[in-house]
Amino acid sequence: MYEREKAAVSRAGARLVESGMRVGLGSGSTVTLLVEALGELRPDATYVAASLSTERAARAAGLRLVPLDELGELDLALDGSDQVDDAGWLVKGGGAAHTREKIVAAAARRFVVLVSSDKLVPRIGPPVPLEVLSFAPAVTLARVGDARLRPETPPSPDGGLIADYFGPVDDPRALADRLDATPGVVAHGLFAPELVADVLVARGDTVSGRRTGAPL
Ligand code: 5RP
Repeated sequence: MYEREKAAVSRAGARLVESGMRVGLGSGSTVTLLVEALGELRPDATYVAASLSTERAARAAGLRLVPLDELGELDLALDGSDQVDDAGWLVKGGGAAHTREKIVAAAARRFVVLVSSDKLVPRIGPPVPLEVLSFAPAVTLARVGDARLRPETPPSPDGGLIADYFGPVDDPRALADRLDATPGVVAHGLFAPELVADVLVARGDTVSGRRTGAPL
């Protein structure tokens, strides 16, 4: 069911890419399907990958990849999400790639999120993924509170340790500000609504814009 929705929304995402665009690609199973669709529909754009697995998939699909620093700015970034709420907040990082994903999303003039219908929630909640510096992670996580290292998860390609925060998320803005201000927290998986231009949601085979509800 959700695999069919992921396939539908990833094809809708691929259709947003135009020839010659500079496009950021996030990470996860939806993005893997997106990469396959882009290999068929849009090999004539330039791509940046937010994770090593996306990089491998993109190379296999014949996409042209460059480092983000070579482009500076992106026309579009496309990514999946673990949760999307009514106010437009996202929780990302189930695949532990949220630090690079946020950098890629922030570099894009338009960041579009592609989700199956199970990702919609009235209000986001825990767990919120974290990446913390490998120096004194216990001290950092104690300061965050209600947080622990994710078992059996390797460090990020940038050397950070992956953890999750399990406390309340009643006020996502206040929590995001607190995590941003905590020494040792490299990045968290809360993505604020102002970062997100559009959310495309698949229900069955139909894909709609989350903000407008209009069929695409
Ligand atoms: C990885 C992510 C993914 O976008 C998120 O986990 C959704 O993954 P999937 O498309 O496999 O459901 O944030 O860090």
